Amino acid sequence: LSAQAADIELAQKSTLERILKSGELRVGFDPGYMPFEMTDTKGRYVGFDIALAKEMAKSMGVKFVPVNTDFDGIIPALLTKKFDIIISGITVTQERNLQINFSDPYIVVGQTILLRKGLEEEVESYRDLNDGQYTVASRLGTTGEMAAKRYMPKADYKSYEKEADGALEVLNGQVDAFVYDLPFNAIFNAQQGKGKVAFLDEPFTYEPLAFGIRKGDPDFLNWLNNFLRQIKNDGRYDRIYDKWFNS
Ligand code: ARG
Repeated sequence: LSAQAADIELAQKSTLERILKSGELRVGFDPGYMPFEMTDTKGRYVGFDIALAKEMAKSMGVKFVPVNTDFDGIIPALLTKKFDIIISGITVTQERNLQINFSDPYIVVGQTILLRKGLEEEVESYRDLNDGQYTVASRLGTTGEMAAKRYMPKADYKSYEKEADGALEVLNGQVDAFVYDLPFNAIFNAQQGKGKVAFLDEPFTYEPLAFGIRKGDPDFLNWLNNFLRQIKNDGRYDRIYDKWFNS
């Protein structure tokens, strides 16, 4: 085989072979999505997803390599092989699943609403926000944005580049509501929202989060699903979950 033909052959094989050969698991994610991926005060990546990714790399015997990627472009970046896997709190949607494969879900979340202080009497559920007098916000390219447009089509919609920016606008009274995944909104509310925003914490969508990989790679998918089953049953998943969700 010529060197080029060998390269092509390797590229077409399972991502697992690339990972083992290079000794690196390259993980695409977008920090700022609490408690899944954040940047700590020393600039290190931390969170539930990061801990799962490190556990995954350890189980493969390779190095964890973070690849910070804007969420709005994370699927194109996976498809152009900027990294091996998306571990970024990404919701399995049928539309996304036409482009990429997903592992089994590792957690289930849903959309909730941070509400501008003073609106809690008139807005009791997401349904009440479907009205031209309200402005709702979410983050670009997320299921929060899809839910806002789908369930509140009559409201004005405003998109933000980062989840924290949208949530802060509710706190500052610039928008009426921020539609986003439950864990993020719950932490934002607990850390900065108390008494300053209202929180409609009953999820109104069903959103399994899973690992995203390129299509046509059954070997990698098989490895991931068995890894998940294993850590869910041997205590590793619970230990990581407790650290990021119960402390
Ligand atoms: N679950 C939502 C979605 O899939 C939001 C994920 C945002 N993730 C992130 N790392 N910023 O659209």
